[in-house]
Amino acid sequence: MAAPRTLIRNAQVVTALSSERGDVLIQGERIVAAGAGLSAPGATIVDAAGLLLLPGLIDAHVHVREPGAVEKEDWTSATRAALAGGVTTIFDMPNNATPTVTAERVAEKLDIAARGAVCDYGVYLGATSKNVGLAARLGGEIAGLKIYLGSTTGPLLTDDWRLLYDHLRSTPEVIPVAVHAEDEQCLRAFQDTSASDHNRNRPPICAELAVHHVITAARAAGRGAHIAHASTAREVSLIQQARQEGIPMTCEVCPHHLFLTSEDALLLGGWGKVNPPLREPGEVQALWEQLACVDIVATDHAPHRSEEKDHAYEQAPSGFSGLETLLPLMFLAVREGRLSLQHLVRLTSTGPANLFHTHRKGRITPGYDADLVLVDPAATRVIRAGALQTKPNDTPFRGWHLPGRVIAVWRRGERVLTDGILTVEPGTGKPVALATL
Ligand code: NCD
Ligand code: ZN
Ligand code: ZN
Repeated sequence: MAAPRTLIRNAQVVTALSSERGDVLIQGERIVAAGAGLSAPGATIVDAAGLLLLPGLIDAHVHVREPGAVEKEDWTSATRAALAGGVTTIFDMPNNATPTVTAERVAEKLDIAARGAVCDYGVYLGATSKNVGLAARLGGEIAGLKIYLGSTTGPLLTDDWRLLYDHLRSTPEVIPVAVHAEDEQCLRAFQDTSASDHNRNRPPICAELAVHHVITAARAAGRGAHIAHASTAREVSLIQQARQEGIPMTCEVCPHHLFLTSEDALLLGGWGKVNPPLREPGEVQALWEQLACVDIVATDHAPHRSEEKDHAYEQAPSGFSGLETLLPLMFLAVREGRLSLQHLVRLTSTGPANLFHTHRKGRITPGYDADLVLVDPAATRVIRAGALQTKPNDTPFRGWHLPGRVIAVWRRGERVLTDGILTVEPGTGKPVALATL
């Protein structure tokens, strides 16, 4: 029997390069045609007039928490949150309670993901002093290598410049090396325990210094590196300068560093605590002005139990969920004229697909996976605690009225979300095909 077909008609089809009215034909798991006036006898027809069709989002920075802290999140809850937010692929970070730092831990995590995930996924290997060279041996098994230069949630810390160099040197260029770039020594030196202002405890200088060091190490190692959650304009301009010198550095920015400031953090208490910290309003404005030089937007979805985040600043853990607010926040930026739709797709889908060398993802092109999101740009939604898929079921954006309602999601050709209702079984997400060596 031929694979089922779906014809999405009259959508505004948005890609990294264009935004045109047209049709998209899905057969089985793939896109088989895209253009104007398509016909497909026997296909399920979806009338998408007035709606935007985007390639499914790819979030390169997610903390699923399983194995380990399943009370915070697990593979099913995290990937349900992803699909609800129009994210069809996630890459999971290695800072679990027992970190993902050996071949066995990677295999174990891939096994857990295979049983629980509802969207597609990849996992990072965490760098330690004992696993230099392992990323090269794991090849297509991992989405990337992650190096923590400063302390954050979890036990991973590699605050040794020789180790940073050795990891960069031994990891093939095709495997991205993502860095949590806050310098540990600098964090210790500037820590101001009397301040209940996270931005004063972990000031921008620690991030800028770490980025500077990573660029120096990358240059010496003869490859690039990816700076996770850049929170200041200076980090982005350092990366831009390095690129001009031929060092293939890349960077990501998170929505919370664009939409929240250190002033909001003071009001949000525990819910405003995140590493790197929310920055001063002038810094946030400067970061917006650097967006043209940013490669990807990722959430740093870092769930902690609501009860933990309800604590005062000093006691609360750092990080919060972001998968369900990513697309609406980026739509807010579009509505405010800060971003074009094409740029949105480049930052959240095509950009990460290119950076992580995924096969068949991040484009609306025949032969690619039919990972698609249908959005009503006019409909707004109020972000409410208790109405989310993520386990903490709350976010610092609670109460925000955001545009860009997700109407439908297709994951590899299967319609998995209709009007906010998910119809998926755990274990139906698949590992993404990544470039092998
Ligand atoms: C992350 C977490 O909780 O895993 N927290 C955070 O504040 N961003 C760790 C990290 O990304 O640094
Ligand atoms: Zn980090
Ligand atoms: Zn993170």
